[in-house]
Amino acid sequence: MYDCSNICEDLMKIKPVVSRPVKIAVIGAGNRADKYLEYARRYPGRLQLVAVVELNELRRRAMADRFGLPEDRRYVNYDDFFADRVEADMVLVSTPENAHFDPAIKAIDAGYHLLLEKPIAQRLDECREIARRARERGVRVGVCHVLRYHPYFAKIRELVASGEFGRIVSVNHIASVGLDRATHSYVRGIFRRVREANPILLAKCCHDIDFLLWLTRSRCSKLSSFGSLQWFRAENAPAGAGERCLDCKIEPQCPFSARDLYYVRRDWVASFDVPEGMTLDDAILEELRTGLFGRCVYRCDNDVVDRQLLSMEMDDAVVVSLSMEMFSNDDFRRTHIWMTGGEIDGDERTLRVRKFRGGYERTYDFSDIAGQSFHAGADLYLIDDFIQALYDPDHVFLTSIEDSIESHRICYEAERSRRTGETIRMDE
Ligand SMILES: NC(=O)c1ccc[n+]([C@@H]2O[C@H](COP(=O)([O-])OP(=O)(O)OC[C@H]3O[C@@H](n4cnc5c(N)ncnc54)[C@H](O)[C@@H]3O)[C@@H](O)[C@H]2O)c1
Repeated sequence: MYDCSNICEDLMKIKPVVSRPVKIAVIGAGNRADKYLEYARRYPGRLQLVAVVELNELRRRAMADRFGLPEDRRYVNYDDFFADRVEADMVLVSTPENAHFDPAIKAIDAGYHLLLEKPIAQRLDECREIARRARERGVRVGVCHVLRYHPYFAKIRELVASGEFGRIVSVNHIASVGLDRATHSYVRGIFRRVREANPILLAKCCHDIDFLLWLTRSRCSKLSSFGSLQWFRAENAPAGAGERCLDCKIEPQCPFSARDLYYVRRDWVASFDVPEGMTLDDAILEELRTGLFGRCVYRCDNDVVDRQLLSMEMDDAVVVSLSMEMFSNDDFRRTHIWMTGGEIDGDERTLRVRKFRGGYERTYDFSDIAGQSFHAGADLYLIDDFIQALYDPDHVFLTSIEDSIESHRICYEAERSRRTGETIRMDE
């Protein structure tokens, strides 16, 4: 067994040479922005926050205070920020999924380099428009596909690309969302509705599809997809289920209890704002009494599917299957790659490689970094890579918008296939 726990540290040692900190403005100072700004906290000589745009006053103040921003660099509205022509090199757009296109286009038109949270936009023509405008304006656009920077996923890619195991024949990839993440994000929370967010394949699995394209290095020629919202619907509410977990008779037995998730286990509470004068306990109880997250899972206004399959045939005849599963305690990904000379399989903790001839077998141990914060450092490597790309025009940023558009196209077409029951030919 090969210990891989030091891979993160090794990756962070390779630093771009910068003559001054890159100036970043953030639009949408929520959970993701906070993760990426850890880079500015650790390396102030490389990245400097110069403005924040955020609707929510608590979050705006928290981020601005942490970085000592003056009052006139704290914005509620991004149009005011663009009107001020703030001196910055790049803008991070990390607003919710239905609010990417407009600020992204405005950032590009203002001449800022753009780091954009996934998904790029809600429609394929909007994704393409962002890429086109960026080319015209000569600015860089990166999309935050963090799996490409994750040591475990990067290792899989490296092993496949080494050619030691021959060519890929087929791939099976399971994205286990896990019940807690599923009920928090896709049943009660901000990704629960297609119109305000996106189909779940785009919202959750565009990373997986991006990884599968990156891994196979081929294009999808044909796909079909299946799935529906089967379980989290009103007609499945058991007898005695209340409107909210706090007033529910069967809450003590319910595996989807919000009271158990937030109040007892204290999981997924980072997105709850704690106003001044309140404790986290108060904030959780208030949320359970009146907020989105206290609702019974059978009585929400969710419409995204609760499991989905995607089958793809690639243009080099490789076949790929992706399965998005919510009904699982696992909150990680499993991948099995069958190749002409051997096979590779892993679950983010261990990665096993075997060759058919000669009994060669090797196992890599990623258990120390699995579940580590910042996606095991990937969030920070991504920022590092983007900074390097801004300093060096020849540097190829790993998650370009062009690659990302291809994975998004698959997501939009998979949704069409799921809805119509058709197999989609991607060249049509
Ligand atoms: N790359 C990843 O691994 C990853 C993981 C989770 C989420 N995401 C994506 O990141 C994006 C943000 O997700 P999050 O989890 O940070 O959400 P979040 O809700 O924590 O943060 C979004 C913030 O944007 C603010 N906001 C909304 N509209 C705004 C506007 N018009 N102007 C300024 N601020 C506005 C909200 O008040 C909120 O604070 C989403 O697109 C999501 O899909 C990416």
